[in-house]
Order: sequence, then structure tokens, then C-alpha cells
Amino acid sequence: MQRTKARPFELESWLATATRTVDRGLDRFLPRESARPATLHKAMRYSLFAGGKRMRPALVLAAAEACGGSHEDALPFACAVECIHTYSLIHDDLPAMDNDDFRRGKPTSHKVFGEGIAILAGDALLTQAFEILARAMPTKRHGHADFVMELAKAAGSVRLIAGQVADLEGEGRDLSVPELRYIHENKTSALLCASVRLGGMSANAGPEALKALTDFGRNVGLAFQVIDDILDVTQTTEQLGKTAGKDAAVKKATYPRLVGLEESRRIAAQLTARAYRALRPLKDGAPALDALARYLLERQH
Ligand code: IPE
Ligand code: IPE
Ligand code: MG
Ligand code: MG
Ligand code: MG
Repeated sequence: MQRTKARPFELESWLATATRTVDRGLDRFLPRESARPATLHKAMRYSLFAGGKRMRPALVLAAAEACGGSHEDALPFACAVECIHTYSLIHDDLPAMDNDDFRRGKPTSHKVFGEGIAILAGDALLTQAFEILARAMPTKRHGHADFVMELAKAAGSVRLIAGQVADLEGEGRDLSVPELRYIHENKTSALLCASVRLGGMSANAGPEALKALTDFGRNVGLAFQVIDDILDVTQTTEQLGKTAGKDAAVKKATYPRLVGLEESRRIAAQLTARAYRALRPLKDGAPALDALARYLLERQH
């Protein structure tokens, strides 16, 4: 019998479709730019549509696929995590935090709208995320309380914000690898992990699939921040769309600073390999998640 060769997964076109779907969703869920107060809604949309890579929403949609779900059902979750992510970037860039002038290839929110509106646009995107979540369809296994708990925990004071606190407090100090791991686990990995879990939940995933997605998300999330640290050293501002070399300039605790570039690359590859392994229990296979993990490891910006 002739065996048909499995066609390689076309991530580029998959991503283009996913990004279009997410952009349309965000446009639909957010108040119009002209809605009062117009400055605020302009600022929310300015950062949201500035050209982010949309990796977290892509992970939501890919995880939903891996569990037999649809992009349509997963879309509110995808848009909610992108709102949380964008809010965290607006606040991360503020003078009181990383004090950055460029983001997503454009001047940062506070540079364009002033600090007050930038803070409020972040606040509003954070709140918007939960409004969008309220529009998601419950499944047999997972209801709105589960959705809210998942996102609130990941974005809250013991995960994403805890990581940001430790990141700020670590500036200029010599941290140990476990301390740095704690920062990455929380400031970055928590939201990536919640993204794949919410994608799974939108598809009524059972405990075994959710466990696989959790392991995958955690490792991909950790790799993501190691790579972000590496790119800060190796890429240009133009390539990144944000100021390169910033971490070293302010003595941020990063993997390259702690263990060097080569070892950082090895760690990122090892974490990605762990992420692949985590996908094994997903019985239908997870080609989009698999391809995304590789893409995230090899990305140049
Ligand atoms: C940047 O995230 C912040 C980190 C957690 C490392 P991304 O690299 O996903 O930023 P965008 O969304 O593409 O702008
Ligand atoms: C940002 O980490 C993490 C969050 C916003 C939660 P970084 O400070 O390393 O991100 P960039 O390099 O500014 O994108
Ligand atoms: Mg930061
Ligand atoms: Mg920053
Ligand atoms: Mg960074």
C-alpha cells in the first residue's frame, strides 16, 4: 500500500489567518475610537494595533485546535489575553518602570498620549479583557468562573505582577539563576501558560489534555523570555521595534548576563524540547502548537 507523506505544517499561512481573525475580533470587541472619552479609546487601539506578533492569541487558537475546538469559540479568549499582554507592555514601558520610548516599532503610549492616559489605557485594557471573557461560551466542563479564575490568577499579584515586581527589584543586583527563573516564570510564562490552557478550555479539554497544555505553556513561556533576553543583546532596535541593549544598560537581571549567550541559547532549546515532549499525550496531535514552539525558539524579533 502506498503511504501518503504527511504534508509539512504551513505555519506562515496559519499565522496570517490567525492574526487576521484576532485583529478582527479585537476591532469588534473594543469601543470605537470616537467613543467618549476618545483620547482613551484612541490610546487603547494605538497600542493594540501597533503591530504586535500576536503570539499569545495564536497559542490560544492553536491549543483550541489541538483539543478539537474551533477558532470561533476560542476567539474571545485570544482577544482577552492580547488585551492583558498589551496593558502589561504599556505599563512596563512607563518611566517608573522600564522607561522605554519604542514599542512595536512606534513611540510608546506615554510618549504619544502622556503618562496619565498611558496608565489609564493600560487600566482600561486590563478591564476590557474580563469584559471580553464574559462573552465567551461556557463548555460542559468549564464555565465563566473557571475562565475568570484562570486569567485573573495568571495576570494577578502572585504571577505576572509578582514577576514584574521581582524584575524591578532585581535591577542592578546580582540574582541567582533560581531568582531569575522565578521572574521569568511569573512575568512571562504565567500568561503564555494561561493562553494555551484557555484555548484548551474553550474546546472543553479534559484534565489530561489540560495537564499537557500546562506543561507545554510553562516551558514555551520560559523559553520565550530567555529568547527575549537574548534578542535584546543580539538584535538591533529596528529589528526588535523596541530599544535594543536596554537590559544591559540598566543592569537588568537576564540569562545572557548571568550565564552568557551560548548557555542561554542552550537553555532556550532545552525548554523548547521539553515543550514538544509535553504535547505527546494530545491524541489528535498538535501541529500548530508544535510549529509555534519552533517558531518562537527561532524568532529574530
Ligand atoms: C514582549 O512580548 C514582552 C515579553 C513578555 C517578553 P512580545 O515579544 O510577545 O511582544 P509583542 O506582542 O510582539 O509586541
Ligand atoms: C516584560 O518583560 C514582561 C511584561 C510586560 C509582563 P520585558 O521588560 O523584558 O519586556 P520588553 O523587553 O520590554 O518587551
Ligand atoms: Mg520589564
Ligand atoms: Mg521592558
Ligand atoms: Mg525584554
